[in-house]
Amino acid sequence: MAMHLGIIIYSRSGNTRKVAGKLKEELISCGHSVNLEEITINGKTPAQAGQFELTAKPDPGNYDAVILGAPVQAFNLNPVMKAYLEQIPSLKGKKAACFITKHLPVKWSGGTQAVSIIEKGCTSKGAVFKGAEIIIWSSAKKQENIKQAVKKLAALF
Ligand SMILES: Cc1cc2nc3c(=O)[nH]c(=O)nc-3n(C[C@H](O)[C@H](O)[C@H](O)COP(=O)(O)O)c2cc1C
Repeated sequence: MAMHLGIIIYSRSGNTRKVAGKLKEELISCGHSVNLEEITINGKTPAQAGQFELTAKPDPGNYDAVILGAPVQAFNLNPVMKAYLEQIPSLKGKKAACFITKHLPVKWSGGTQAVSIIEKGCTSKGAVFKGAEIIIWSSAKKQENIKQAVKKLAALF
C-alpha cells in the first residue's frame, strides 16, 4: 500500500545524504510519496553532546512512517540524531526503520550500537520498528552494499 514516508537524516560530510537520496528514489519507484528532510545544528562539527542546538527538527507527525539515517561517531550513534530522538514527540501508530553509515569495516565499531539506540528511541515513542541497515563506507563493495540496503529498506514498507 502506498504510504507517505519521511526520510529524516543527519549528515555532516554527505555520506548519509547520498544513501538517503538513493533510498528516496527507490521508495518513489515503489509508489510511495517521500520527503527527505535534514536535521541541522548550530554548533561546531563534529558535534559533541551538549554543545549544539537543533536548528531544524523535522516533524515526524507528517508521515505514516519514518526512516532515520545517521552516521556513527566515536563508536556510537552521532549525538545529533541522539538529541533529535530525545526531542521529538510521539511516534505512536507509525512505522519506523533506520540506516547507519560508518567507516570501519570491523564489528563492534559502533554500527550495532547506533541501530540499537535508534530502535529504542523509536519504540519508546510508540513506533513499530521494522528494521535497519548498516553501510560501511570503506568497503570495496560499498556501491553494492548501498544498493542492497536501499532495496531491503524499501521492502519493509
Ligand atoms: C569524529 C568522527 C568519529 C567517527 N567515528 C567512527 C567510528 O567510531 N566508527 C566508524 O565506523 N566510523 C566512524 N566515523 C566515520 C563516519 O561514521 C562515516 O564517515 C560516516 O559515513 C559519515 O557520515 P556523513 O558523511 O553522513 O556525515 C567517524 C567520523 C568522524 C568525523
